[in-house]
Amino acid sequence: MLGCMNIRNEAVLVTGASRGLGKELARALAGRGARVVMVARGEDELARAAAEIRAEGGEAHGLAFDVGDKEAIHRLAGAAAALVGPPSIVVHNASTLGPVPMPLLLDTDCEDLERVLAVNLVGPFRLTKALAGPMVLRQRGLVLFLSSDAAVSAYPGWGSYGVSKAAADHLARSFAAELDPVRFFSVDPGEMDTRMHADAIPDADPTTLARPADVAERIVTIVARSGASTNGARLAAADFPALDARGTGGAAA
Ligand SMILES: NC(=O)c1ccc[n+]([C@@H]2O[C@H](COP(=O)([O-])OP(=O)(O)OC[C@H]3O[C@@H](n4cnc5c(N)ncnc54)[C@H](OP(=O)(O)O)[C@@H]3O)[C@@H](O)[C@H]2O)c1
Repeated sequence: MLGCMNIRNEAVLVTGASRGLGKELARALAGRGARVVMVARGEDELARAAAEIRAEGGEAHGLAFDVGDKEAIHRLAGAAAALVGPPSIVVHNASTLGPVPMPLLLDTDCEDLERVLAVNLVGPFRLTKALAGPMVLRQRGLVLFLSSDAAVSAYPGWGSYGVSKAAADHLARSFAAELDPVRFFSVDPGEMDTRMHADAIPDADPTTLARPADVAERIVTIVARSGASTNGARLAAADFPALDARGTGGAAA
């Protein structure tokens, strides 16, 4: 089991890593010596993000794939393992809101709901299946699903996205029940100043939102202390203070 996890040299895969939270998480983990594979669709933005992290001395590789594309998942898993070895830490961070402005459910096309579920739920499910084998064999590994407040509270217009996140929360719980001691958590990052937030709520005041880099540091604490949380739990990043240079911080959940 992962108790106090040493991030150095771990093989990590982060989806949605070309900007926003995913990029900062890739940076934070690579900065602690992890060997990181970064995934997103847009090749140029992804290549720039990986190059930035390499320039800071981290190991980072960009793989341009769509996590909602059924045909892509096994190629992605194989390419990631070829680059850094079988990932022992997987972060399902890539996500779509669906069409914006976000329609009410009765105005939502079934195909749009299907696409949201394909990216936010079925893709992470398929990728977990493709990557979990070595974790189960080694009896160690950690899989995080980025969640949202919309998974537990209902807001008009957030139905498709909220349903996908609620289902992903339960996917994490169910995998944990079946594959313990491999660890699975869903993580609510809180509201952050990112493109996704601007797409969803264009008139929000960015100064009221968390910086993705700060939230990434809190998620590093979740990773480092993953042995201390109940397997399958839904965690709030806000409850996990960033670790200081000595690896200490506030109380672990
Ligand atoms: N921002 C918030 O306030 C907030 C609040 C609660 C939860 N969250 C969750 O936090 C996570 C990160 O969000 P964020 O705000 O950082 O988003 P963001 O800035 O919009 O970044 C999204 C990332 O995901 C990639 N991506 C999107 N669709 C993809 C697909 N089909 N396949 C592969 N990569 C894909 C994007 O690159 P490409 O477009 O090039 O693929 C980008 O790298 C998400 O799971 C989100 O639901 C965010």
